[in-house]
Amino acid sequence: MKTGKSEIISNIKLKSDYFKVVFYAPHIVDDVKPGQFVHVQINSLRDKLLRRPFSICDVEKNGCLTVVYKVVGEGTRVLSSLKAGIVCDLMGPLGNPYSNPKDDEYPVIAAGGYGAAATYILAKEAKHKGVLLIGARTKEDLILIEDYRIIGFDVKIATEDGSCGVKGFVTLLLEDYLKDNNGMKYRYYGCGPNPMMKAMAGLVEKYNNKAELSLDHAMCCGVGACYACVVKIKAPETPDGWKYVRTCREGPVFSSDLFYLD
Ligand code: FES
Repeated sequence: MKTGKSEIISNIKLKSDYFKVVFYAPHIVDDVKPGQFVHVQINSLRDKLLRRPFSICDVEKNGCLTVVYKVVGEGTRVLSSLKAGIVCDLMGPLGNPYSNPKDDEYPVIAAGGYGAAATYILAKEAKHKGVLLIGARTKEDLILIEDYRIIGFDVKIATEDGSCGVKGFVTLLLEDYLKDNNGMKYRYYGCGPNPMMKAMAGLVEKYNNKAELSLDHAMCCGVGACYACVVKIKAPETPDGWKYVRTCREGPVFSSDLFYLD
């Protein structure tokens, strides 16, 4: 993990409240693994707001690091207004990553909305291209679909209002793959709102399977020092059978069989 100044190369609107910012961050890109995040300090907000965690969507050998984000508060609103040439401070890569699929496995990725950003490097690096199951409230919340198709992924869509793809939750699509593997070896991954991650953990358990799921949690330090991001997980090795872990350090990616479903 390293900290350093990173110039914004571009910062564009994808659609509605979703943006894509590319930083020049050669001090970080070489060490990035799928599912990790960066902690971003916007210098004009240094006295007002703490660093903010963002999933790393993509990295390139030329030092560019891409983050896809949604404007949800003051920090992201200010970030969306920053032009190319502005310098921020980036710390990373941080967090426990996804494991890559084995040589004979096909990744099945279930993503809620811009959760698809956190799994893009995993998809890009996968030897066998699998499927992205993407769910959102409405078609306005669907992003990165073409990016996945370009790298060879099949994409299936579910929207809650039925404005695109199947009407309902993305778990509907996932169940088809859990029920019938078509003779393929699948490895399951997820990233999205926490209720979706819980539903996904329950579903894979129903089919005696597991998934690697990325949890979304508010963070402060991002490096395991403040314990602001603790969650309770199962821990058969402890006397009580559970323990607290830090989302920023032991997570954000956890195995689904460690989740509490109630
Ligand atoms: Fe400080 Fe996780 S944010 S320990």
